[in-house]
Amino acid sequence: MTQSVLSAIYARRSIREFSDGAVAMPDLLEIVRAGTWAPSGLNNQPWRFVIVTDDVMRGKISETTHYRHIVLAARALIAVYLDTEAMYDAVKDHQAAGACLQNMLLAAEALGLGAVWLGQILKNKEKVNAIFALSARYDLMAVLAIGYPLHRNQKSSRKELDEFILKTFPQEATDVFQK
Ligand SMILES: Cc1cc2nc3c(=O)[nH]c(=O)nc-3n(C[C@H](O)[C@H](O)[C@H](O)COP(=O)(O)O)c2cc1C
Repeated sequence: MTQSVLSAIYARRSIREFSDGAVAMPDLLEIVRAGTWAPSGLNNQPWRFVIVTDDVMRGKISETTHYRHIVLAARALIAVYLDTEAMYDAVKDHQAAGACLQNMLLAAEALGLGAVWLGQILKNKEKVNAIFALSARYDLMAVLAIGYPLHRNQKSSRKELDEFILKTFPQEATDVFQK
């Protein structure tokens, strides 16, 4: 169990090129379910979702982002919202949305799908709400573009661990990072 979670964390990449294979609704619902099992403050579960597999709707959404080509290539979208009426603390509710989104990315990976978190689209979040006929009560957090990966050649990198760790107590614990 532990190993499979770690494997998914390290194997997951942002997927931006997709094959033509349609994504089944049960898989999309599984991704949403995984999102809803993220932790949230007071377990208030402030997330809401819009699932899109319809080509016409996907075309409309594609017009709202610089990453139009990714939206058009993906066979499914899941827009993740915060319900402002379910929120109790802005920071904690946004943190919960992030946890939800990461769960969803890992679930997509586990299902053999690929996904990318689209944040640039937030520039046009009012337009996205208008397309979905949603009121401002729902605050867009991100759109996940989902599909079967065209390939698995994506590379990514991270800085060295010691660049992130400010301190450890006891200090000797970081000796392992000394070069
Ligand atoms: C808040 C946030 C916003 C992002 N927005 C975009 C985006 O608009 N377009 C995109 O192609 N990738 C977007 N990404 C994906 C990042 O570019 C990607 O996670 C990062 O480059 C690391 O690559 P990896 O996910 O393959 O490890 C976003 C990721 C996060 C967490």
